[in-house]
Amino acid sequence: MKFAKDFLLGAASASYQVEGAWNEDGKGISNWDVFSKIPGKTFEGTNGDVAVDHYHRYKEDIKLMAEIGLESYRFSIAWPRIIPDGDGEINPKGIEFYNNLIDECLKYGIVPFVTLYHWDLPQNLEECGGWTSKRTVDAFVKYANVCFEAFGDRVKHWITFNETIVFCGLGYLAGAHPPGIKNDPKKYFQATHNVFTAHARAVEDYKSLRQFGEIGITHVFSPAFSIDDNPENEQATYHANQYNTAWYYDPVLKGQYPEYVVKQLIEKDWTPDWTEAELNVIKSAAPKNDFVGLNYYQPQRVMKNDVFEVKEKSREDSTGAPGNASFDGVYKTVKMDDKVYTKWGWEISPSGFLEGLRMLKADYGDIKIYITENGLGDEDPIIDDEIVDVPRIKYIEEHLRALKYAVAEGINVKGYYAWSAMDLLSWLNGYKKQYGFIYVDHKNNLNRKIKLSGHWYKKVIEERGENI
Ligand code: BG6
Repeated sequence: MKFAKDFLLGAASASYQVEGAWNEDGKGISNWDVFSKIPGKTFEGTNGDVAVDHYHRYKEDIKLMAEIGLESYRFSIAWPRIIPDGDGEINPKGIEFYNNLIDECLKYGIVPFVTLYHWDLPQNLEECGGWTSKRTVDAFVKYANVCFEAFGDRVKHWITFNETIVFCGLGYLAGAHPPGIKNDPKKYFQATHNVFTAHARAVEDYKSLRQFGEIGITHVFSPAFSIDDNPENEQATYHANQYNTAWYYDPVLKGQYPEYVVKQLIEKDWTPDWTEAELNVIKSAAPKNDFVGLNYYQPQRVMKNDVFEVKEKSREDSTGAPGNASFDGVYKTVKMDDKVYTKWGWEISPSGFLEGLRMLKADYGDIKIYITENGLGDEDPIIDDEIVDVPRIKYIEEHLRALKYAVAEGINVKGYYAWSAMDLLSWLNGYKKQYGFIYVDHKNNLNRKIKLSGHWYKKVIEERGENI
């Protein structure tokens, strides 16, 4: 079996993680520009001031992507470059940069797949309440429209938000992302509702512009599986899936919130301030979503919580490895002896990927799916000047194989984006955790070189995955 001709094989990045040029050409300050400089918040104080300097080196980077044969490049737009204070004046230099980036992709026939929000919020909006404030919703809708109008003639694939559960969860429960607030479920649920409203309004606006492209959202895809068939653990797993999957996918794809969660929010007084008009737009926009983007790295292995001591979470506790109790104390994720893990403790499970896709189809039907991120964070070995990232090849190959099974079963997957196109800044793990097909040499002028995985992926694309 081969991947169909219209199945996009690409790779991804995000503005803050690659661009650098944090204060150039009229760009406003983002929440990450500020947060990453607070001592202790990031790995060894790393930040995206320079990142891998994609802002200045995008031509070289796109050329390398073309050499790899990427059919599509998923990147995000930095909102503070376009509207520096969030909802005021437009910065022409910001528009110019993304025009150039898009045109450079198109020059090589690379399809630009654009994320509007991959976590770098204008700091001014953060200071006015960030995602808990409805001003940010209005501001996002304005910003989205500016992007549709400026780039929509050439960009036909739009993702509104990347991983709402991460920036809201780490922002308002774990305190590990901006605005660094801990244990505030009320704010957390308000922020998520505001994001879903902003998404829905952007979808409605995009469709009314009749640009004939597609629009959707990207979610974390981390299906929860019970560690055994103990009914208490199974109930805890159901709870995890309701809070981590249904809460995020239902409003977008079904147009309403899951009853199980809503009932508990009412009991706990965590219900967001939601108006009739907001709930209506969430409902009306749902059928207009063209696709859902899934970022899959690992599943969750879940059991009922038996940790009664509430401990202060460290940065490491927020980096995605299992071993934590849920914020509401109902369940915990566990590391299991019979599973395989990366150096950063993330489970490697292509079978969990396939099983999760089946669950998603059962719950949401035939919605079009793009895998918008999947990849291996590693410290890559260098032998004789070659970057021999064999474990990454194995990881991606196994996940592409799972996808072939999914497609053969009739699951509507239309594309795959490896994370990441080039090595980049990991928000909490610095530059040490590499993901790219393109190596960036931090000791040597940020020089680029295609890794073994990049050469391998080129062949996969040429053969349309036939030999996987
Ligand atoms: C996803 C994000 O959560 O995971 C990316 O969308 C991120 O921005 C990726 O880099 C990998 O996470 P980490 O923590 O390993 O860098």
